[in-house]
Amino acid sequence: MYRTRTCGELRLSDVNQVVALAGWVQKNRKMGGMSFIDIRDRYGITQLVFNQESNLELCEQANKLGREFVIQVTGTVKERSSKNKNIETGDVEIIVSDLKLLNASEVPPFTIDDETDGGDELRMQYRYLDLRRAVVRKNLELRHKMAFETRRFLDAQNFMEVETPVLIKSTPEGARDFVVPSRMNPGEFYALPQSPQLFKQLLMVSGFDRYFQIAKCFRDEDLRADRQPEFTQIDCEMSFVEQEDVLNIFEGLAKHLFSTIKGVDIQGDFPRMTWADGMKYYGSDKPDIRFEMKFVELKDLTEGKNFVVFDSAEYVGGICAEGCASFTRKQLDELTDFVKRPQIGAKGMVYVRCEADGTYKSSVDKFYSQEDLKAWGERFGAKSGDLILILSGETEKAQKQLCELRLEMGSRLGLRDKNVFAPLWIVDFPLFEWDADSNRFFAMHHPFTSPKPEDIPLLDTAPGKVRANAYDMVINGVELGGGSIRIHDSALQKRMFELLGFTDEQAQYQFGFLMDAFKYGAPPHGGLAFGLDRFVSLFAGLDSIRDCIAFPKNNSGRDVMNDAPSRIDQAQLDELSLVLNLKEQK
Ligand code: AMO
Repeated sequence: MYRTRTCGELRLSDVNQVVALAGWVQKNRKMGGMSFIDIRDRYGITQLVFNQESNLELCEQANKLGREFVIQVTGTVKERSSKNKNIETGDVEIIVSDLKLLNASEVPPFTIDDETDGGDELRMQYRYLDLRRAVVRKNLELRHKMAFETRRFLDAQNFMEVETPVLIKSTPEGARDFVVPSRMNPGEFYALPQSPQLFKQLLMVSGFDRYFQIAKCFRDEDLRADRQPEFTQIDCEMSFVEQEDVLNIFEGLAKHLFSTIKGVDIQGDFPRMTWADGMKYYGSDKPDIRFEMKFVELKDLTEGKNFVVFDSAEYVGGICAEGCASFTRKQLDELTDFVKRPQIGAKGMVYVRCEADGTYKSSVDKFYSQEDLKAWGERFGAKSGDLILILSGETEKAQKQLCELRLEMGSRLGLRDKNVFAPLWIVDFPLFEWDADSNRFFAMHHPFTSPKPEDIPLLDTAPGKVRANAYDMVINGVELGGGSIRIHDSALQKRMFELLGFTDEQAQYQFGFLMDAFKYGAPPHGGLAFGLDRFVSLFAGLDSIRDCIAFPKNNSGRDVMNDAPSRIDQAQLDELSLVLNLKEQK
């Protein structure tokens, strides 16, 4: 037996017991005639003691152990004279009577400790060592618990976990597919699923009624802190449900996770906001409502005073930051620089300071009188000491820029506390979004999303105005999950494909199997998928979902540890009937 106890569990109550531990050498230090080794495993760290006087040979053996050597020891648990409050086993130590080296280690390329000297790239290259660090391991433990509690909750609600294939025909979730060539079918390709969307709908046709799966999904899209090319969804579908039923179940799941994992009991129903209000008041379909600072529109109040910037703008709107009139010139310049960054793209920012004496100071007071500025202040409900920040331009763009400015102000003012959780549902998404480049409509969610029944007549007259039975769960400005009620009527589905510009042949080629299935009694159904990685990062307070994924990809979609993607050899290419046409040799 390698061990009788773990390195995290010994306490004062174990004093005088003889125990065996196995683990890695975290630290090795010599003090006079004594040597101390911290031994580490997944469960914690325990101090081992070797005394030169009582066992010289053992002590010398211990002194030779380097960091990350794997050892096994036997010894007696004793109370420590100087206790270490920083570790859970800090009241005790082990007087070692036997030491066995199980495996040596090269010097690790970075310190394996919560505080490490290893940079991002190096840690990813040696991710198996990075995962030895308690701070990283904790995120994966959290992930395990969340997946476990999700299964428990959904099982209790009669959901059945079903695996769906990974080598499939392309699914239309809006990103590019990763494709896999088929050796047995030369010239043909599988796609990796962007989500199990079509399969879960087919399972509803099969009468499975309530399905879920913790499923790997693959999307070839530009990567960001909350996006990985392969990620995990808690994917769910239900039959005989309306939007309200789906929202209730998954609000229940979110609350279950909050209470069992975070110990947070969220009272009352999650607030709901229409997509249109999200855009109008926050410039976002995933507003962070931990703080207010809603947008206020000013266009009508700014017109006709010869300020060309506002006069020529489609939209003039701003936010009011309470108590920020004391912002210095330098702070205001920083904010202007912030909105002018290329990734935000504003041309400039106008401010109005609401001074203590009731007057207003503004960067545009050449154009606007105190009267005018007072009217603006009143619309914002601004008080003395507040600061109004205004952006203008083309509506959608200006709202997005203002959204960034609002979030920046929220961060600067400490209003985005990671320990505060503000969930909400965004509902009534538009069914379509217009793409000016290709001059056509795209499905905002996916082509199987049902329009709101009352908006169906608009499909023929004003498709852009049709709202969908689609919803997203947003917490702290992160889109955690989304779904919709699906179309289960073949005729409506056909009409949807037409509006999306699919010919009958194209629709048949891509989705024929689904449309065929719908001919055999498809029940009304709908569902949702949570991004598990995002949920875990939210709970762990992480800035990137990478930190809760065991072996993540970097921002170029590369696994720097095993160097994937990589070339395959000519024989493999030949077998797959593939010829490379590389424009540029690497
Ligand atoms: P959607 O595309 O909104 O819906 O995805 C659902 C959730 O998955 C997460 N997510 C991601 N997480 C990490 N990296 C990514 N690249 C990534 N892309 C998406 C988000 C998102 O809210 N089939 C539908 C669901 C349905 O209609 O039932 C779907 O996939 O948290």
